[in-house]
Amino acid sequence: MPSPIVKLQDQDNQSQDLIITPSSSGIALTGTIGIPGDKSISHRALMLGAIAEGETTIEGLLLGEDPMSTAKCFRAMGAKISKLNSEKVIVQGVGLGNLTEPIHVLNAGNSGTTIRLMLGLLASHPGKFFTITGDKSLRSRPMSRVVNPLSQMGANIWGREDNSLAPLAVRGQQLKAIHYLSPVASAQVKSCVLLAGLMVDGKTTVTEPALSRDHSERMLRAFGAELEVNPKTNSVTITGQPTLTGQKVIVPGDISSAAFWLVAAAIIPGSELLITNVGVNPTRTGILEALEMMEADIVKENERTVAGEPVADLRVKYSQLKACIIGGKIIPRLIDEIPILAVAAAFASGTTVIKDAAELRVKESDRLAVMATELGKMGARIKELGDGLEITGGASLTGADVDSFTDHRIAMSLAIASLNAKETTTIHRAEAASISYPNFVATLRQAISN
Ligand code: S3P
Repeated sequence: MPSPIVKLQDQDNQSQDLIITPSSSGIALTGTIGIPGDKSISHRALMLGAIAEGETTIEGLLLGEDPMSTAKCFRAMGAKISKLNSEKVIVQGVGLGNLTEPIHVLNAGNSGTTIRLMLGLLASHPGKFFTITGDKSLRSRPMSRVVNPLSQMGANIWGREDNSLAPLAVRGQQLKAIHYLSPVASAQVKSCVLLAGLMVDGKTTVTEPALSRDHSERMLRAFGAELEVNPKTNSVTITGQPTLTGQKVIVPGDISSAAFWLVAAAIIPGSELLITNVGVNPTRTGILEALEMMEADIVKENERTVAGEPVADLRVKYSQLKACIIGGKIIPRLIDEIPILAVAAAFASGTTVIKDAAELRVKESDRLAVMATELGKMGARIKELGDGLEITGGASLTGADVDSFTDHRIAMSLAIASLNAKETTTIHRAEAASISYPNFVATLRQAISN
């Protein structure tokens, strides 16, 4: 049987093509794979470690470009962060309110979590001045969603397009407590306001239309902050001016990275994978519920709690998937998995509809538009809706020339689709995967060689 070929080809200094030629008999994925640390938890561990008193140790940190951006920013503001590695990173915090004024522009790179969470901290450092920017994608993403609540708290933030686009300049202020009714279910918005609330005298509350990931709440509590959560109203209240003390954080594997393998094994006949050490926080497991609705064969094994976060191993086997309808409150719980769900839907019988997902238009790329065009180039019957996608499965996909639009999750979703397509697919700008998954291609090679 001719073996599948997975090649990386440098295009220029920055850009890489990923070329995938499946063997004619298909590529079954088998064996046990580990996945990189959770991106959201990695950012928060670095940030809380940097503003706490004393030492924080982080095991399992994601070595992707996004957490590296966070580490660089906080080093520039006085935190001592050891060389990043996935075994053990040591952070010596400055103590709440003691970030120093950086002498250069802070650069959040591609990372929405870095810029939005950090803005909450910067805006609440009275008398200090900060400037912050990011890459081309980040400079086009809306910052008004965090500038608005911070302004209500008294923050001074300036930027292009009515203070809504980076680069942003911030003059720190003594902020005041508010109750913010967020129009979007966004953990970045919620976390930004809670972090700003740390420096406030009084209680700051955020209410969101649906519950978004709660890693900030869990970790803030572990570091010593007082939080009240009202699950009925999706509200969380933080009491200002706590003492935050450095902690030992163990970062579980990222379910958003596991999602690529869950879908790959579910759609490729003969596959069976065991994915170990996956974070299964209920605010993140929408992908498991969606795949269950599609009749995927996924079993949770060895469920446990590690450093305050639920963790399990996930065993996934091939099965014929069925279409489903995904929308409403589940969307924030699988917001980053919609591109790979679209790939699953392309191989399911029937028509899958994903709705209430307009947020995808303001991610690292417009993920609705990009998935519709790029998966469409491979022959998928996929239609872009205003707030989602409609995908009719069953068309056999053929290799094509596709582009990641420098979006990590698009690059990896297209790679998984190409494993199950006829002939060669070339994914341009595939290096984007390293934003959240530096070993993606190595793990792909491992899973197909077993
Ligand atoms: C994140 C929250 C999500 C998600 C992003 C990471 C976080 O964004 O898409 O990849 O770490 O808080 P929103 O909360 O803005 O939807």
